[in-house]
Amino acid sequence: TDTRLWGGRFSGGPAEALARLSDSTAFDWRLARQDIAGSRAHARVLHAAGLLTSEERDAMLAGLDQLEQDVAAGAFTPVRSDEDVHTALERGLIERLGPELGGRLRAGRSRNDQIATLVRMYLRDQARVIAAELLDLVEALAGQAETNFDVTMPGRTHLQHAQPVLLAHHLLAHAWPIVRDVQRLRDWDERADASAYGAGALAGSSLGLDPSRVAAELGFSRVVENSIDGTAARDVVAEFTFVTAMVGVDVSRLAEELILWSTQEFGFVTLDDSFATGSSIMPQKKNPDVAELARGKAGRLVGDLSGLLTTLKALPLAYNRDLQEDKEPAFDAVDTLTLLLPAVTGMVGTLTVHGERMGALAPQGFTLATDLAEWLVRRRVPFREAHEIAGACVQECERLGIDLVDLSDAQLARISTELTPEVREVLTVHGSVSSRSGVGGTAPQRVREQLERLRETVAQQ
Ligand code: ARG
Repeated sequence: TDTRLWGGRFSGGPAEALARLSDSTAFDWRLARQDIAGSRAHARVLHAAGLLTSEERDAMLAGLDQLEQDVAAGAFTPVRSDEDVHTALERGLIERLGPELGGRLRAGRSRNDQIATLVRMYLRDQARVIAAELLDLVEALAGQAETNFDVTMPGRTHLQHAQPVLLAHHLLAHAWPIVRDVQRLRDWDERADASAYGAGALAGSSLGLDPSRVAAELGFSRVVENSIDGTAARDVVAEFTFVTAMVGVDVSRLAEELILWSTQEFGFVTLDDSFATGSSIMPQKKNPDVAELARGKAGRLVGDLSGLLTTLKALPLAYNRDLQEDKEPAFDAVDTLTLLLPAVTGMVGTLTVHGERMGALAPQGFTLATDLAEWLVRRRVPFREAHEIAGACVQECERLGIDLVDLSDAQLARISTELTPEVREVLTVHGSVSSRSGVGGTAPQRVREQLERLRETVAQQ
C-alpha cells in the first residue's frame, strides 16, 4: 500500500533506490513521542478553529493514545515505504481511525514545521538530562577536591613544573568549565524555546489555527516570529552541538590529565578496578580506557558540529531536504554524551589520589623561584632585578645539584645582599600556596570559599 503523503500528482511509485535514500525512520523514529504530542495539540487547535467536531477530536485523541501505546510496546513500527516518522505515524493513525477521520489531521501543518518543532522538543529534553549528568561530574570533582583538600601538586604551564598549587584548586579548574557548559545549555534553551508549529511548509497557515496554543501544549513559551525562519533555521540545533562539542573538549582535557597522572612516571592517581581495563596479552596492564574514550569521543563531538555547520553553509531558504541531515549529528552528540558522562563521573569519583607523591613533586623543578622573587619585591627590590636574582639562585642550585631551600646563608648572600636568611620562610610548598591568597588564588582559604561558591552555583542550576 502507498503510504506516501504526496502521491497525488505522481503516476508511478518511487524507485527502490530513492525509497532507501529517502527513508529517515532509522534515525527519526526516536521522535515518535514528540510527533504524537504535536498531533494531539494540533487536533485540539483544529477543533478550536471549527475544523473538527468535538466527537472527531475525541476520537482523534483516542486514536493517538492507542497509537502511542502501540509505539511504546513495539507493536507499531515503521516500514520502508514510510519515508519518515511523520508518514509512519499518519499511516498508523489511519489504520486505527480510517482514512476519513485519520486523513483530517494533516490540515494546516507540514512536515517542515513539524520537524523543526519536534527536534527542539527532543533536544530540550535531552539538554536537561545532559545538564544533570554534567552536574554529577562537577560533584565528583568537588568531592575529590574535598577529600584530598590538603594535597599539593606541581602546577604546570607548558607541561613544565611552574608553581605549587592545591590539587583541589586544579580539580576545580576542571569543574568550572563544566558548570559553564551547563549554563550554556540553559542559555541555549532560551533560544530553543519557540515552537515552529503553524509555520506550515514555509509561509504560515491559512486555517486560523492558534500556534501559541500548540506551543504552550508542547512546553514552549512562544512561537517563532517568522514562518520561513521557523522552518529553515537550524542554528538552534547547531548551537546545541556546539555545546556538546565544548563538553567533549572540556572533558577531554580532564581525561588527558588523568591518563598522564595514572602513568608509572607520574604516579599521581590509581584508577579503580571498576573503571579500568586490562590487556589481552600483558597480564600486568591496567589501562585508562574510560579516559581514552573520553578523549577520543571529543573528536566525534567536534565532528558532529562541523558536519552540521557544513550542511547548513550557503543553504538557501526555506526548507531543503538537506536539513534532514541535522538529526544524525545532533542525536549522535546526545547518545555519545549520555553514554560517556556517567563513566567519566564514575572514574573521577572512584580515583585514588597519591597525595604524598604529588606533594613531594610540588617543589621540584624550582617551582618556588617565583616566591623567592616576590619575597624580594615585598622588600622593595624592583621585580626585574628580583627575577634576575631568583634566576641566579636557580642557576647556582642546578650547578650544585641542590634545591633553593638548601642554599646556605653565605651562598644566598653571595648571589645578592638582599637575600637574608628569612627568605627561607617562603621556600616551602605550604608557604607558597598559602601566600597566594588573592581572589581566585590557590591559598587554602580561597579554595575553600571557591568550593562553596561552586556548590552554590551548582545548587542554582
Ligand atoms: N524528514 C524531514 C526532515 O527531517 C522532514 C520532512 C520534510 N520533507 C519534505 N519533503 N518537505 O527534515
